Amino acid sequence: MHELHMAAPPHAPPATPPPVDVWTANRVRDLVARRLGNGHLIVVSNREPYVHEVKNGDISWNRPASGLVTAVDPIMRAVGGTWIAHGSGSADRKVVDPDGRVMVPPDRPRYALRRVWLTEEEERGYYYGFANETLWPLCHVVYVRPTFRSRDWELYKAVNAHFCRAVLEEAPPKATVWVHDYHLALLPGLLKAARPDLTVAHFWHIPWPSSEVFRICPWQREILEGLLANDVLGFHIRYHCDNFLDAVSRELEVNVDRERSAVTYRGHTTLVRPFPISVDAEQIGADCREEDVAREMVRLREEYGLAREKIAVGLDRFDYTKGIPERLLAVERFFELYPEWRGRLAFVQAGVPSRSRIPAYRSVWRRIEHLVRRINQRHGSQDWAPVVLLPEHLSRTAIHALYRIADCLTVTSLHDGMNLVAKEYVAARTEGDGALVLSQFTGAAREFPEAFLINPYNLDGTAERLAAALTMPEPQRRQRMARLRERVLEWNIYRWAGAALDTALRLPDPEVVS
Ligand code: F6P
Repeated sequence: MHELHMAAPPHAPPATPPPVDVWTANRVRDLVARRLGNGHLIVVSNREPYVHEVKNGDISWNRPASGLVTAVDPIMRAVGGTWIAHGSGSADRKVVDPDGRVMVPPDRPRYALRRVWLTEEEERGYYYGFANETLWPLCHVVYVRPTFRSRDWELYKAVNAHFCRAVLEEAPPKATVWVHDYHLALLPGLLKAARPDLTVAHFWHIPWPSSEVFRICPWQREILEGLLANDVLGFHIRYHCDNFLDAVSRELEVNVDRERSAVTYRGHTTLVRPFPISVDAEQIGADCREEDVAREMVRLREEYGLAREKIAVGLDRFDYTKGIPERLLAVERFFELYPEWRGRLAFVQAGVPSRSRIPAYRSVWRRIEHLVRRINQRHGSQDWAPVVLLPEHLSRTAIHALYRIADCLTVTSLHDGMNLVAKEYVAARTEGDGALVLSQFTGAAREFPEAFLINPYNLDGTAERLAAALTMPEPQRRQRMARLRERVLEWNIYRWAGAALDTALRLPDPEVVS
């Protein structure tokens, strides 16, 4: 269906703003219940939403640092169903039933988690290899060269087939399967070949590069064919959809309908749509007790010497796409350009180590450590460290406390599908102050023109925007934050899921169509 944008007639009275159309957990639950009837939703991803670990002989659980989990877990808690994912925790096998299922969240069960087991070799080839050394650098244009190893590709195919078997065991007739991310590009094709009755939707959480970049992949044809088995394929932004349409037009005999943003290949049509992902904005911090957050804010300030006039924060997985060295270089440049800020600003770089078996990740980590040491030696003093590095898994309470003490959050990704840290920060600033320095190469930048937008490759420019964010008079800063907050409260995670699921669940029965 097309939206009609009609110009207002000249001299028309100003239109009354339409009432804000709010999407809530209940609204998504009702949508799914209405359309799926008794059927239930099956979500599939590599990363599992809850990980069980053995620690000091006891079993504990945690929620991994993952944008995908942040986004999809609230949806599954609202609608129920089954989430199929790789069981990666050291105690994962200990808590499941004989079919590999456990109810989650562990403290308030709402849906079933069905775990898929992988061997060490499979994990190395499929996850570390093909997903994260081939597709990840291929899709993020950050000048880290993708590797193409046939063995990884073989294991990627084998693991997609494992996931397919698990879905087929779980899926009742005419089920709707919602696949997530680049680890499972072949799964839609396998599913449709085995069970044409399934409706399959897929959300790709990372950018899709230009066809010039994508076509170097020796297995591009199989990947594109796998994705064209989907009924609906979602990206964060229209630009990624267009790149995908270009890639399929170049490589395959397809019919692309740009008006409908639909591709027909071998008689099957895939709708390719932008669905900008978001966060459960109203609930950010709601799972933390206010007194715990307040205590944590005091602890962070005292323990890390953060009692400064201003605090700027970076919070990321330690990934080379996040532009952390560039951010640190910009902070260093900031102290050179604005020496009056020495001793007055503390910059906290927090986050979790990630994919550290991959050489490019280890090398970015070494560079981060080196830069932090260098900046602190060059600019610090006896009682002031300009940069504080917190490389640890932070609790929800600690993350919320960091958002609350951050006068400014810096997101300097070199390329990023969306960036949910930016959205979480805005959602957490309930008292209405704060500033967001945001890379123009994130999906979030399209929705947040009121952020202090930067090009992370331009160090002087980033330093200047950081200075502007820190010195802008409070009324203007609050006005900008108010706009950002409006956006994130309206375009929340339920709107994202509602749009994607509504598109998938409205489709005619696949068997009747084919
Ligand atoms: O950003 C892409 C993505 O796969 C997210 O969807 C996910 O949250 C993040 O990377 C973390 O990756 P991993 O599951 O490898 O830790």
